[in-house]
Amino acid sequence: MTTGPSVSGPDKGAQLYEGKAKKVYATSDPALVIVSYKDDATAFNGQKTGQILGKGEINNRVSNHLMRLLESHGVPTHLVRELDGRDTLVKRVEIVPLEVIIRNVAAGSFSQRLGVPEGTPLACTVLEYSYKDDALGDPLVNDLHILALRWATREELDEIASLTFRINDILRAYLDAAGILLIDFKLEFGRLPDGTIVLADEISPDTCRFWDKATGKKLDKDRFRRDLGGVEDAYVEIRRRLLGADA
Ligand code: TMP
Repeated sequence: MTTGPSVSGPDKGAQLYEGKAKKVYATSDPALVIVSYKDDATAFNGQKTGQILGKGEINNRVSNHLMRLLESHGVPTHLVRELDGRDTLVKRVEIVPLEVIIRNVAAGSFSQRLGVPEGTPLACTVLEYSYKDDALGDPLVNDLHILALRWATREELDEIASLTFRINDILRAYLDAAGILLIDFKLEFGRLPDGTIVLADEISPDTCRFWDKATGKKLDKDRFRRDLGGVEDAYVEIRRRLLGADA
């Protein structure tokens, strides 16, 4: 698929990949691709499907905003520049096949697996890895699984862990000032051609648990996963708090 030339960026070339929430397109520069955010939403490994109206645009803008914040603190990311509502130019990376999860407060699968009520404070921050494989249901793995199966080297994994804890510190402080508790989140990392590890994928209400600091209200994709209602409103509220009323 090809679209017309744009003043703000390179032509969208062939579609390279379609994931559950995004599509990826080639550009005339082999080192760059365009990520296009969809309104499609899935949960429980694709068993539940739906649409969240406006989500693609909100996630694109929120994720770019947070990646720019991280860049300003020295965290390397794949971001090049936002092209328009749904589309962003990013560096082409080889994705490390891991979901890197930080947990500041018990919730979700952590609460289920360990029988700990959601909202329970944790004595320290927890870092988890899941192997990105839908057919296997993204199983939880540890460092030795990752090294044994050569998904990353020791050096890469140390870099990923250290970046992830830094990202947590930066995001927590930033979101706190916007009245949002960062309960947990998932990151993905990629390798540039020279081997540098950079933050990739997205940081959005799809990939984080955001709870309102004052009321505990969920302002993230759990509203869709759990049929809580007010799904679109929660995404709009996150955009408003992070990007302002006119965003
Ligand atoms: P979990 O509690 O379901 O394991 O989710 C932990 C965090 O990871 C939560 O903030 C939501 C995010 N997440 C994703 O980004 N993608 C996924 O496929 C899943 C299951 C969770």
